[in-house]
Amino acid sequence: MSLEVVILAAGQGSRMKSTLPKVMHRLAGKPMVQHVIDTARRLQADALHVVIGHGAEQLREALAGQALQLAVQEQQLGTGHAVAQALPAIAAEATVLVLYGDVPLIAPATLEALIHVAAKGQVGLLTVELADPTGYGRILRSDVGDVVAIVEHKDADAAQRAIREVNTGILALPARCLREWLPRLSSNNAQGEYYLTDIIAMAAEDGVRVQAQQPGSEQEVQGVNNRVQLATLERWYQRQQAEQLMLQGVTLADPARIDIRGTLCCAQDVSIDINCVFEGNVEIGSGVSIGPNCMIRNSRIGADSVIEANSVIDGAELAGAAQIGPFARLRPGTQLADGVKIGNFVETKKAKIASGSKVNHLSYIGDAQIGRNVNVGAGTITCNYDGVNKSLTEIGDGAFIGSNTALVAPVKVGAEATVGAGSTLTREVGDGELAVARAKQSNIKGWKRPTKRS
Ligand code: UD1
Ligand code: CA
Repeated sequence: MSLEVVILAAGQGSRMKSTLPKVMHRLAGKPMVQHVIDTARRLQADALHVVIGHGAEQLREALAGQALQLAVQEQQLGTGHAVAQALPAIAAEATVLVLYGDVPLIAPATLEALIHVAAKGQVGLLTVELADPTGYGRILRSDVGDVVAIVEHKDADAAQRAIREVNTGILALPARCLREWLPRLSSNNAQGEYYLTDIIAMAAEDGVRVQAQQPGSEQEVQGVNNRVQLATLERWYQRQQAEQLMLQGVTLADPARIDIRGTLCCAQDVSIDINCVFEGNVEIGSGVSIGPNCMIRNSRIGADSVIEANSVIDGAELAGAAQIGPFARLRPGTQLADGVKIGNFVETKKAKIASGSKVNHLSYIGDAQIGRNVNVGAGTITCNYDGVNKSLTEIGDGAFIGSNTALVAPVKVGAEATVGAGSTLTREVGDGELAVARAKQSNIKGWKRPTKRS
């Protein structure tokens, strides 16, 4: 059996009040439609079709480079019409799963159960009971409980509107059924649309069994129509992630105040204070403590490191037992060996710093290689950029860089060398040497301060 997934994403989403197509709005840092695509990939689908229409060009650009087949629905004539646009590209013997680009949190396990039904030649339909079913298509069942039709809210009579089991829109079925039924749809209904939901009555007529299944949670099938719903879903999603972390042995100061936009992998006994944001792939070793208001993106933080408040760490690798911040900024290419200390108002970029070295205050260390046990004084700047090219600063083991030193790269400071405070270095300093490169102090005896003009 082959599996082909059709993701409907042609609708306008006018209630988002946005120039961005609805399905491009982000949940946990990722466009909603991308959540759906990634979920479909986890099902090992043989082909993925996305039906685009409104904002087609923006979507085409955003989805470029992914193994997807795009079908354009020029006019939004309904969900049945939308699926029909993808149908010519779908293999005749395939099982087809229909997903919605604006239902981002549908879970693979729920879909697997539907696919299983469809693989038997039946229709797997995802339904849910809602306290308030207003607006949704209602599930009509026979006396013996078989699903026999779906009636859209706008077409339903009062008795049908009282039904609380609704269509989530998600279903799986053999492609050959779609080939038979889609051409038979009519738009003779309250919205003048070709409803995909009308195929359920056709299945019943043709003796094809419709098996209704329910999702693991209501949020899985929650669609997003406006930004309030998007934010509600975001909070639910973040809460789930926070709970998973806690159950894995992470202490969160407040599970309502952590945002994970990507994948956060934590070893045991990590503790995370409030208002931290994690983006991309972040790995955190055991015993790490992260202070409040930190932002950590695509980084690895080795065991027993301490990240103090308000630090920003992006594209960095910290071997372990690092002490960072408060108010530190580690930029991409920062590699810190064991026990390195980066203090307040220090920025690092493409900086490889060996074990035991310290850059404690108010410095910029970019394009640099620093040896072991180096002390970099307050206000030290690597002048790595001449306006055109970037150059390297190298500092040997055990060197001492005095405060307020400008290291004009390319430049080298040897092992155990000392640089006097306030120096502007443009030439290499040899091992063990003292370099002082600043104006000599001169004292003027008997100096008279200016007096106020009358
Ligand atoms: C649809 C279902 C309804 C179900 C509800 C669940 C139909 C006729 N109705 O109603 O039974 O309870 O979803 O949320 O299927 N789309 C297109 N092209 C179109 C029309 C829609 O791509 O021509 C896409 C939209 O972008 C959206 C999805 O299909 O992602 C659903 O469309 P929408 O108009 O929201 O359907 P509902 O009226 O909510
Ligand atoms: Ca909808």
